[in-house]
Order: sequence, then structure tokens, then C-alpha cells
Amino acid sequence: MIKPMSVHVVILAAGKGTRMNSELPKVLQPLGGKPMLEHVVNTAATLENVQFHIVVGHGCEQVKQHFQQRAEVNWVLQEQQLGTGHAVSQAMPGISAEQGPGVVLVLCGDVPLISTASLEQLIKNADADTLAILTLVTNNPTGLGRFVRDTEDHVIGIVEEKDATPEQRKIREINSGIMALPADRLRTWLQRLGNNNKQGEYYLTDVISMAVNDGCHIFTKAIDDEWEVMGINDKAQLASLERHYQQLKADELMHQGTTLLDPQRIDIRGDLKCGRDVTIDVNVVFEGEVNIGNNVTIESNVKISNSSIGDNSVILANSVIENADIADQCSIGPFARLRPGSVLKSRSKVGNFVETKNSTLGEGSKANHFAYIGDADIGNDVNIGAGTIFCNYDGARKHRCVIGSNVFIGSNSTLVAPVSISDGAFVAAGSTINADVSENELAIGRGRQRNITGWQRPTKS
Ligand code: UD1
Ligand code: CA
Repeated sequence: MIKPMSVHVVILAAGKGTRMNSELPKVLQPLGGKPMLEHVVNTAATLENVQFHIVVGHGCEQVKQHFQQRAEVNWVLQEQQLGTGHAVSQAMPGISAEQGPGVVLVLCGDVPLISTASLEQLIKNADADTLAILTLVTNNPTGLGRFVRDTEDHVIGIVEEKDATPEQRKIREINSGIMALPADRLRTWLQRLGNNNKQGEYYLTDVISMAVNDGCHIFTKAIDDEWEVMGINDKAQLASLERHYQQLKADELMHQGTTLLDPQRIDIRGDLKCGRDVTIDVNVVFEGEVNIGNNVTIESNVKISNSSIGDNSVILANSVIENADIADQCSIGPFARLRPGSVLKSRSKVGNFVETKNSTLGEGSKANHFAYIGDADIGNDVNIGAGTIFCNYDGARKHRCVIGSNVFIGSNSTLVAPVSISDGAFVAAGSTINADVSENELAIGRGRQRNITGWQRPTKS
């Protein structure tokens, strides 16, 4: 058997997804925080020597926009969605006969969890005279295409549910929609497709019986894991696949040593990497790319997006962390909010009801309670007292505060940017600071206290 020279992956993604009842194109609906189509593309990208053709129609600009970094994709526009066979035929002009004998691997943008191993099985078995297709034997075949076999168990074709006889509807072997076909033969089959069926569509599934009639061998690979070929048509199916996907992610984490207090109550919407001996309590949500070091503890009800956390740090309950870079031995929360651009150096601490944004907190520096730290560069071993506000906004522009090392900011201070406070300086509690403070100076910016003796309280008449 001569191996195919080129593999063309054709991903069908033009359908409207009517049953989603959504403005977002179906293939962009997220699973684990990534569009369904992205899962399919990422899996196909693990195959060797493949060329991508993605058939788009509904919301095509939005879909293309999402994948704009993938320069190697040949985008195919299917203006009218006349069926899966019609969709594949739109891609055929981009699959030239001059490239030699090739295989067309058809994938569906709404079947996101297909595995590399299964696709490799199809590619390995398809050739100029063999069509390879993934099947599933299921107790719930409703809505899907059924495999029709003869008395000797040879495939004769696929019948769509809407066109099937009551007898055929009892068949439990269904079409996953995922198949590898010999490119040259496919070209001729597609030209012969008609749309004389209940849905008036050009069905890709009709090429199976053509292949049989042309003496082409049909290789079927039965999938064991139903989730792998689950097609998503509505929000309920999307939600159940999401739960399955999250279970897979949780299993992966536990397998490599992460402690999950309840594997059903963690959500990973992106890519999470954990070091050794990480403990994650319930209801923690991870978004985008999150990197966690060794010996990190994350308490309950925490949301972490696109951030990194160093060794031996602890994130206490109810904290929200976004685009932040947290070093080792830090303590965050409970109830802390780290906004984008927050950089916490080693041993620093952000306590309850503290918000930080676009600011650096130096080594060993602390803001233990109630503070807003915006647009600030803070040195090492600084103490930010409770109630301190960095006034970074003058109503029109943002300005920065620069604070040296070993500075003490007394409670309830307001630091009016731009202002700088040098090493060793001390700001008295309740001060409003709008002029620079030099090294080791004490700054007091508040009304002096007066005590009036003999003062009479107002009395009720
Ligand atoms: C299809 C199969 C069915 C199979 C099922 C598995 C056909 C005729 N039927 O049915 O045998 O059991 O998948 O999930 O192939 N699409 C286009 N352009 C079109 C029509 C569809 O790009 O003109 C895309 C859709 O966006 C979707 C995929 O093709 O990603 C499948 O289409 P869909 O309408 O969902 O087909 P099913 O009815 O699920
Ligand atoms: Ca479908």
C-alpha cells in the first residue's frame, strides 16, 4: 500500500447553528474557554504534513478574525449552506490534483473533542482505494446518520435520520461525520451528488454508497468514547460537553499531583500549569494562560486570569486576579483584587479589600487592608497603611506615584500623583501628600488637632 502524499484537512464550519439561538456563530461558542473550532484546529495541527481548509459561511468575518494568526489556513467561503457535500465541494478547488494523490480529512467545527489518535487511525487507513470513517454504536442515535450494512455486514451507505425508514431508524451505528477520503475520487463523487432528499441538501454522506458502487473499500473505525464524536447543536449539549471536558482537565491535574478538594468544582477555561504540591479549594475559575509554581495554595471562590504565581505563595478566599505577576512567598487576599499590570515581588502581601492596578509592590512590601494602589512603583519593605489611596487620576490623565524602599505610609493617607516619596520616609496617618518627600523625612499633611475645653454640646429645646 502506497501512503498518501498529502493530507488536506477540510473543517466544516459554515452552518448557522440555529438551535444555539445566539448571535455568536456556532463554531465560536466556547468550550473550556476556547471556541469549539479552535479545539478542532489545535487537534488537527498535531498531525504531520497537513494543509488546512476551513469552510465558513455564517459569521465568516468573525470566525476568520479569531484565527487571523493562523496564516496557513485556506479560508473557503460557502455563501449558501446547501449541505455538507456542497460545503466540501467548495473546498475542492484549493486541493489541486497536481499535488499528487492525496487524502481529504473531513472534520466538523461542532465536534470539538475529536482526538489526534482517532484522526491518525483514519489517515493511516485511507488511500486511493479506501475511504475511512469514524463510527459510533450508541443507544441514543436520534438525529444522526445511520450506517446501512448488507447481510454480510459490509457498509452499503449512510442514511440520514429524516430520510430513514422506521426499520433503519432502529440502527444504532451512527455517522460521526468525520472521515478521510481519496481526494481524486471524492472530486468525481461530489460532482455526482444530488439534493433529492427530505432536507433538499447535498449530503456528504451520499458519497459512501457511491464509493461502495465504485468498488472502493470502506474502513470503519468504531469509537469507544462517545464524547469524542459528540456534535454540539444547542446550549444543553454544549453544557454537558463542558462538564465532561472539565472532568478531563481535573483528572489531568490530579494525575500530575495537584490536590483538588472537589474535582467537580474547578473550571479551567484556558491553559493551566501547576507545579508540585499545589492545592486548589472549591469554586476556583482559571481563565486564559495561568502558571502556578510549587507549594501554592488557592482557597475557595477565587478567579485567576492570565497570571503567574510563584512558589510557596497563597491566594486566600474570594480574590480576583487578572493579568498579574505574583512572585514567590506572597500572600493575596482574602477579598483582594489584582487588576492588570499588578506585579508583586517576593514576600509581598496584599490583604483584604485591597485593589491594585498597573503597580509594582517590591520585596517584602505590604498593603494589609483597605487600599487602592494604582499606577505606583513601590520599593522593598514598604508598609502601606489601611485606607491609603493612590490618587492616580486628575480627571483627565493618569499619573504615577514613586515610592522608595523602607517607606511607611500611615493609615488613611492620600497620595496625589505625580508624587515621589524617597527611601526611609515616613508619612503620618491621615496625610494628603502632593509634594515630594525626601529620604528619611517625616511628612505630615493634615490639619493640626485642637482641643477646646469648656465646650458646650447643643441641647434639645
Ligand atoms: C451530519 C451528518 C450526519 C452525522 C452528523 C454527526 C450529513 C448530511 N449528515 O449531520 O450523518 O451523523 O453530522 O454530527 O453530513 N455545514 C456546513 N455547510 C453546510 C451544512 C453544514 O459547513 O451547508 C457544517 C456545519 O456548520 C457543521 C457540520 O457541517 O459544523 C455538520 O452539519 P450539521 O448541519 O450539524 O449536520 P448534522 O445534521 O449534524
Ligand atoms: Ca451537527
